[in-house]
Amino acid sequence: MLQIPLRKLDRLTPEPTELDRYEIASRDDIRALQRERLAWSLRHAYQNVPHYRAKFDAAGVTPDSFKDLPDLAKFPFTIKTDLRDNYPFGMFAVPEKDVARIHASSGTTGKPTVVGYTKRDIETWSDVVARSIRAAGGRAGMKVHIAYGYGLFTGGLGAHYGAERLGCTVIPISGGMTERQVQLINDFKPEVIMVTPSYMLAILDEFRKQGLDPRKSSLRIGIFGAEPWTNAMREEIEEAFDLHAVDIYGLSEVMGPGVASECVETKDGLHIWEDHFYPEVINPATGEVLPDGEKGELVFTSLTKEAMPVIRYRTRDLTRLLPGTARSLRRMEKVTGRSDDMMIIRGVNVFPTQIEEKLLSIHDLSLHYQLVLTRDGRMDNMEIQVEARPEASFPAREAATKQLVQSVKDTIGITALVTVLDPGSIERSVGKATRIIDRRPKE
Ligand code: DLL
Repeated sequence: MLQIPLRKLDRLTPEPTELDRYEIASRDDIRALQRERLAWSLRHAYQNVPHYRAKFDAAGVTPDSFKDLPDLAKFPFTIKTDLRDNYPFGMFAVPEKDVARIHASSGTTGKPTVVGYTKRDIETWSDVVARSIRAAGGRAGMKVHIAYGYGLFTGGLGAHYGAERLGCTVIPISGGMTERQVQLINDFKPEVIMVTPSYMLAILDEFRKQGLDPRKSSLRIGIFGAEPWTNAMREEIEEAFDLHAVDIYGLSEVMGPGVASECVETKDGLHIWEDHFYPEVINPATGEVLPDGEKGELVFTSLTKEAMPVIRYRTRDLTRLLPGTARSLRRMEKVTGRSDDMMIIRGVNVFPTQIEEKLLSIHDLSLHYQLVLTRDGRMDNMEIQVEARPEASFPAREAATKQLVQSVKDTIGITALVTVLDPGSIERSVGKATRIIDRRPKE
């Protein structure tokens, strides 16, 4: 049974009978399943992927070293460069003919990271995304507008298969052509939209540009992810469109979208689909496993993946593990940033999401922003470039500039230069937004 009663939220809350078995299983049952599946996954990786065999051997462990969940800590981590070093198919654990699908994420430099799926992996992936859409309030028969990119990126096709699996009508528009996105939302009347939160803001601007009231659109549920976003952004989008905005998380190395997702009835962090992905949070400096509740780097081990099992994959995403609420599976707190995105400004660690949080409280500023880093001697400087809201007057902009400088200084503890720009000045991205422009000289 569910651990807490579901808070009624019109018809978005699922009946317990609609949920998958492990969404409402006891913690003991979940742990027993994880134990069994981890043993399989470690053996599968060791026996079929030379990279894992070599890594395990070097660390002095074999799949038999695993008896219970804490034993996982004895096994070596996997990092992104392990995948790059085994480009393209060296991490696959099944013959190439059994790989039904390949996706890849483009690195900023060099080779992409390649991932593969068997037919059964695609089934699992469809199931977890279907579960995620249902957790957001989506149901069979609803229309789902998918504006995540289709192609090698996992967003579009991952969302697509999940929506189909749930029995929805899929509108596979992909990213871009914002005018047409708005036209089709108006004409096809989808209840659900799946898109990056930053691109949702671009769609919002387009609604307004066309003189349409976004609150009157058919959209009731937005499932946003693929990049960090704040509760401030949630508030902005929910208010503008009069919809429920929930967070979906995932990464290609582990599966794609649908590793974890938020439940609309609580909106309190993302339930990890722990029957397929085993989470750990570690101290990024020492690799030590941290107890639930402590913040660190998220690490995943796949429990059922056939084509490309991942063992203790370091995501570089920072979060903490929390007990389940709307489901019995554990939650991860909204990801506030990647360790790669951490800026050190005059000795203070700063993430773009910390700046984003400040913007909503200043009435005349929008959430379209970028952070420009420069170096002055040995000091790093940060300029916050943010667009004014269209209705902001010149004096209002000046006041907003001062307010933001002060609020960043008071709460984050750094002095930043703030430049308020005209609406539309910052380039819109159709997928993941670029938040940091690094103009510091390369060392
Ligand atoms: O972004 C998969 C995805 C597609 C997730 C659509 C959700 C929706 P990658 O391109 O491999 O895969 O990027 C994975 O994106 O390690 C995080 O840093 C970031 N990320 C993904 N979802 C979230 C989220 C897809 N909800 C990387 N919040 C991850 C914060 C996220 N960051």
